[in-house]
Amino acid sequence: MARPGHCRAAASAWLPLLVLLLAAGSVTAQTCLSATFTGGRTYLKCNQLPVLGASLHWTYHAENGTADIAFRAQSGSSGWVGWGINPTTQGMQGSNVFVASQDASGVVSVLTTILEDKRAPTLTNVPLTFPVPVPASAEYADNAYTIYATVGLPNNSTSQNTVWQAGQSSGGTILPHPTTGQNMLGVQNLDFLSGTGTAGSNSRLHRRNLHGVLNAVGWGILIPMGAMIARYLRVFEAADPAWFYAHIACQISGYALGVGGWGLGLKLGSESVGLTYQPHRNIGIAIFALATLQVRTHRKCSAPCNFLTVPTFSSGVRSVPAARQEEQV
Ligand code: HEM
Ligand SMILES: *[C@@H]1O[C@H](CO)[C@@H](O)[C@H](O)[C@H]1NC(C)=O
Ligand SMILES: *[C@@H]1O[C@H](CO)[C@@H](O)[C@H](O)[C@H]1NC(C)=O
Ligand SMILES: *[C@@H]1O[C@H](CO)[C@@H](O)[C@H](O)[C@H]1NC(C)=O
Repeated sequence: MARPGHCRAAASAWLPLLVLLLAAGSVTAQTCLSATFTGGRTYLKCNQLPVLGASLHWTYHAENGTADIAFRAQSGSSGWVGWGINPTTQGMQGSNVFVASQDASGVVSVLTTILEDKRAPTLTNVPLTFPVPVPASAEYADNAYTIYATVGLPNNSTSQNTVWQAGQSSGGTILPHPTTGQNMLGVQNLDFLSGTGTAGSNSRLHRRNLHGVLNAVGWGILIPMGAMIARYLRVFEAADPAWFYAHIACQISGYALGVGGWGLGLKLGSESVGLTYQPHRNIGIAIFALATLQVRTHRKCSAPCNFLTVPTFSSGVRSVPAARQEEQV
């Protein structure tokens, strides 16, 4: 009989996902302290930024409210990188940024621009809304750009919303960066005095994170856990009928969280007018459909059962010995 094998396959199919989640959770402990800079530049503080292989190095001058910064980020030679401050809110829109890129002959230049339109920023070289007392410069070495800049921190505040990004360019033209994964996470509130960086917290980012967490916990943890409970615990007599209730509790709460995360994802998608993250969206819809329709001919069900046809006990009392016999067939 193929059923137990099928169950084991179902449980182990989730394992790589679980491992992936755990791996993503363990932050790579890199240090930015050993970085060196040309022209004898040194900085008092640095933060390894959480995404895009980037780090920020700076010295804050309290006497005049300026910060000397060096932003370094990995990139191929046909790429661009950017760093900036958003004086009004969080995220890309409204940010005042420095963008480094190079032309076909490898000449590196820096652009200062204000990202007014998220869909099609003009990327024209304009003065920023805060002081830039020394013109910025940039260099490319060892597969990384470094942007050197001095900024008068807006509103004379040491706490600033920063952004960073990386993308591709073509013949010196800056192309839009990807709008998935790491490229959506280059947002941090940084205190230039203490050096504390906290991840972006605008409501869209919040909801995007919530979407990720709900999906991960629902589809990635609770549902596989429920499957494993059914697979491994039910063989112990002492665990009966507790395993069944634990299994059902996991599946129902996992499914509820997953559906919440899925719905939030659809809502986020519908708010990004004109933007569709096609593969991501399709994967989401597929997971939802599979989880909903997945038919397990489960011994507790009188008929094929899944989340739409929740197990009923219409076939009578759950019979453990009968189940055991079935297992041995
Ligand atoms: C080449 C032109 C650019 C285009 C067309 C573009 C477009 C976009 C789009 C469509 C999003 C996703 C918005 C969403 O889903 O809500 C986004 C996000 C983002 N962009 Fe850009 N972008 C460009 C350049 C830049 C530059 C130069 C930077 C920074 C130096 C930057 C930083 C960011 C950041 C940090 C995010 C994620 C946070 C957020 O959603 O605001 N972008 N961009
Ligand atoms: C910021 O504060 C410093 C010290 O308090 C002061 O010297 C400087 O002029 C201020 N800068 C701006 C732009 O207000
Ligand atoms: C700000 O203060 C620092 C340290 O005293 C000095 O090196 C820098 O030139 C000053 N910048 C401006 C714009 O006054
Ligand atoms: C500047 O700082 C003041 C006082 O902290 C605050 O009320 C104001 O909203 C800030 N302005 C901007 C543009 O951030």
